[in-house]
Amino acid sequence: MGAGAPPPDVKAQGKKILVCVSGGIAAFKVVVVVRSFAEMGADVRVVMTRSAQHFVGAQTFAALSGNPVSTEMFGSGADVPHVELARGADLTIVAPATANAVAKMALGIADDLFSAVLLTVRSPVLLAPAMHTEMWEHPATRGNIATLEKHGVTLVGPSEGALSSGDSGAGRMSEPDEIVRAGLRALGRAEDLAGVRVLVTAGGTQEPIDPVRFVGNRSSGRMGFAIAREAAARRAKVTVVAGATSAEPPSGVELVQVATADEMRAAVLERAPECDVIVKAAAVADFKPEEAVERKLKKASGPPEITLVPTPDILAELGSRPGLRKARSILIGFAAETEPDPGRLGLLAEEKRRSKGADVIVANDVGSSDSGFGAATNRAVIAGPDGVTDVGLVTKMALASALIERISQLLKERRKL
Ligand code: C5P
Repeated sequence: MGAGAPPPDVKAQGKKILVCVSGGIAAFKVVVVVRSFAEMGADVRVVMTRSAQHFVGAQTFAALSGNPVSTEMFGSGADVPHVELARGADLTIVAPATANAVAKMALGIADDLFSAVLLTVRSPVLLAPAMHTEMWEHPATRGNIATLEKHGVTLVGPSEGALSSGDSGAGRMSEPDEIVRAGLRALGRAEDLAGVRVLVTAGGTQEPIDPVRFVGNRSSGRMGFAIAREAAARRAKVTVVAGATSAEPPSGVELVQVATADEMRAAVLERAPECDVIVKAAAVADFKPEEAVERKLKKASGPPEITLVPTPDILAELGSRPGLRKARSILIGFAAETEPDPGRLGLLAEEKRRSKGADVIVANDVGSSDSGFGAATNRAVIAGPDGVTDVGLVTKMALASALIERISQLLKERRKL
């Protein structure tokens, strides 16, 4: 994940930043991260695991942060250090995050101060993994990272390069300036959608043939839920209109359950006038049986003849009739294409953006097992008024984050108009 430039209006001054250090040689680079934020006037508190202290002394962090360093869960007094440390944090940085730290965070284990703090914090969490390539690539770590992304944790790195083992590969912790920039972005990002109303459609519609059968698709709802989760994490007021899904819905959002394209249209049009952002991530059936018969079709009657008719194209309707939406609202659609080539995917996205009257189209490749329906990752491009960005093959959470970042920028530009 690239670091990019911090938003110019973000200040670290007066912000409470928690830096949680686990035991890896990269801990020495975190000294620079702590110093940078302290110099910017942030109130930096450092928490270290026992093994982290083998690499950097607590005294070093204490001197640079100007605050005592916390290492133990239990003191002699009546205070509860993990709760005190976690409460009121504006940002939490876990660096270096070892494979063990990542696993404990993903499972919610709280058997030392470091892990107990991380289970208690409610601030945005930035994770800078550092481990050997084999550990980074192990399915257990892949699964843990995916879980943490689902929980809204933002990853910075790791990058490829020289490792302490003397070899080279993926798993090297990002450089301190990159972590600091990501931290500043996270601080600015934390509230950037406060007061913004976002509607997201997710999942697939089911168009009845008879009382038990339907025309449907393989959509899991993961992508739409990831977008809703990211928007809610950035303080938007989020409504999800969901068709059939198999993924776990996000918490802290309003969930409206629908079954058919017609029901989805009604739910979306009812709410559209109040929404600043509408993301149509649902896989809406393009055709439905002309008539759903009231009684179950019998096998003995032979194969039925089913006439399909088009469903309403909700995205195109919202795009072509601006009166249905709030003034200056942003409309985002998805295009599921069997096209892995980012160049051609970009052209298809741009074409759909024009034909549907959307502001942004995310085109994703649904032709391979690592991208599209049901997969944890997506290969995608984002086409907006300012051009096409190739996001590459990333987790759905990372794609959601890239999309929300783009939406946030568009909202800022429109507010200036
Ligand atoms: O035309 P196509 O189905 O490829 O367009 C996909 C986009 O249009 C998605 O954003 C989807 O949610 C939306 N759509 C819709 N109503 C339909 C079909 C698709 O809103 N009937």
